[in-house]
Amino acid sequence: MFKHSQLESVKADIARPEHAAMPIHGRVQRAIKQMILDGILAAGKPLPASRALAKSLSISRDTVEAAYSQLHAEGFILRKVGSGSFVAEMPELTGQRRNLSQRISHPLRVLSLSQRGRFAMQSGGVRSAQSATPFAHGLPETRTFPLAVWERMERQVCKEMGTAILQAGDPQGVLRLRQAIADHINLERGAKASADRVLVLTSSQQALALCANTLFDPGDAIFIEDPVYHGARKAFDASGLHCVPVRVDEDGILVDQIIGSAQPARAVFLTPSHQFPTGITLALERRLALVKWANRNNAWIIEDDYDSEFHYAGKPTACVQGLDPYERTIYIGTFTKSLFPGLRLGYAVLPQQLVEPMTLSRTLWDGHSATIPQYTLAKFMENGHFGSHLRAMRSLYAARLNALLNLVSQHLSKHVEPRRPSGGLQMPCILKSGLDEAAVLAAARAEGIELMGLSSLSASGKGEAGFLMGFAAYAPGEMEVAVLKLARIMAYHRTV
Ligand SMILES: Cc1ncc(COP(=O)(O)O)c(C=O)c1O
Repeated sequence: MFKHSQLESVKADIARPEHAAMPIHGRVQRAIKQMILDGILAAGKPLPASRALAKSLSISRDTVEAAYSQLHAEGFILRKVGSGSFVAEMPELTGQRRNLSQRISHPLRVLSLSQRGRFAMQSGGVRSAQSATPFAHGLPETRTFPLAVWERMERQVCKEMGTAILQAGDPQGVLRLRQAIADHINLERGAKASADRVLVLTSSQQALALCANTLFDPGDAIFIEDPVYHGARKAFDASGLHCVPVRVDEDGILVDQIIGSAQPARAVFLTPSHQFPTGITLALERRLALVKWANRNNAWIIEDDYDSEFHYAGKPTACVQGLDPYERTIYIGTFTKSLFPGLRLGYAVLPQQLVEPMTLSRTLWDGHSATIPQYTLAKFMENGHFGSHLRAMRSLYAARLNALLNLVSQHLSKHVEPRRPSGGLQMPCILKSGLDEAAVLAAARAEGIELMGLSSLSASGKGEAGFLMGFAAYAPGEMEVAVLKLARIMAYHRTV
């Protein structure tokens, strides 16, 4: 079998837009050949059975067979009846190779990276879309952001503070911002936060990596949701943690499996308000059971509350942190979605005993977050602009979700089943009628449409085929153009 990271690398390779014109078997063949040339798959290494690889990549077994046959014909692999396929011994590859131009495009072989560095390369990292292209997920509307108000807040704090604002800041974050964050989440999310427990960071991704490095040792087990947010999975994998997937049903993660597990684990990672990617809300009794489990086992609950500001049906459930009297929960929030992705400000609300170690640990990474944006944001929040922006975006996004649902039911209902989320910035859709997820994603990308595949988010490799459709950053007219293109793509793929 491939390691998780190797499988991710094949997936990333076959989804690259520059390969869109190549047939899928050609892309699979190319990705595996590259791993052999780069020495990632060594001579003698068994390749996954074609059935298993086909399942993991959500493509047909014939497609994998075609890729393996070509690799065999070119001498890269051996096929032994009854025992499978293996990377061939290729003496001419040993100790060579590659002129400089090839080296640059194959850095894994040439650079002597650490295991973490190699993992980062193979995982493809976690990049958010740099421009809002339908239906890139998780992006807020930024075109109508009140930039003039933001600029005014920035001018005011610079004037108030003078050149003192240019000094290095508190590694834990500017106190005014910590206070504004604590006030906001206590009121809106039912948290129990105070300014002295808030650690201001650049993003939730930084909070996840900081937890992984500061709280755990390589080999420690952590329960993760299945399907899971890829950014968390990659941060944990890169730190050498042993991720144990636990299935999510219509009430969220199956807590009984955690409580009954023979596997001692140090933590559980959750997106309880709005599970990524399913959109499910974790039921209250499961939240309470998890809090007790964490207390009994001295385990941490890592709560990623990434987009709960946007809830469209009733009131959002209070966060787990607010239900936890034992201080076992690390609450993570971000302004990437509630304001704008370029801001690069997120935060963690920590149990008292973790404030010092986590703050010191972050100083080894980046010292502190940039000071002027922190003061500007504090003032933006104190003056009520954050609250009114959230209210305006909440009603805009609710309308856009309805518009997308109508478009999907009008034009795509033969091919996909939409799952209406109660909140957030994206909607999961399940592919029906056996459509090939990788093929649909690749064809969509070739048409300038970004879809995040669901099967790549399945931690156990047993996920449903489908994709996430971001809706918050796109006007109904923009979504309509893209949905019509998707309808054509799907009708074509249904017939091939
Ligand atoms: C579950 C989840 N957490 C966190 C983030 C990213 O937040 P940040 O930009 O603060 O890392 C995302 C972005 O899509 C997400 O989906």
